[in-house]
Amino acid sequence: MKILILNGPNLNLLGIREPGIYGKESYDALETFIREVCAKHDVICEIYQSNHEGVLVDMIQSALGAVDAIVINPAAYTHTSVAILDALKAVALPAVEVHLSDVNAREPFRQLSYAGMACEKTFAGYGFDGYRLAIEYLVEKYGSQ
Ligand code: DQA
Repeated sequence: MKILILNGPNLNLLGIREPGIYGKESYDALETFIREVCAKHDVICEIYQSNHEGVLVDMIQSALGAVDAIVINPAAYTHTSVAILDALKAVALPAVEVHLSDVNAREPFRQLSYAGMACEKTFAGYGFDGYRLAIEYLVEKYGSQ
């Protein structure tokens, strides 16, 4: 199984940005964590981070015919981007949304997720482990197809 893992703006600053909310571990540590989870489940993963909405749209489009599923943390674009929602709907691949923090327990503007409307599931508030839960959900549901 092949999974595209996409991370949105400011996640490259993990460990530096608001560690009380997003934790003290770096973005590199997140990538290492994801690669270990994928290796354990024989999943081939492609992991990208971008601060740019259009780049994230391009990456979602390029997933078509190339991967089996998408795990996405659109970060702030979660709450604003109809373009990312439309791209996820366009490729129509199984997608799971992840947030490190519990967005539903934060500011009201974080409680609307456009991307989530095209995702089968959301894991929010589990830190890095949310990515493991997303990958394992996809492996269990689509891994043997
Ligand atoms: C986030 C939550 C978003 O509201 C925020 O804009 C982020 C990170 C998370 O992982 O908790 O940048 O997606």
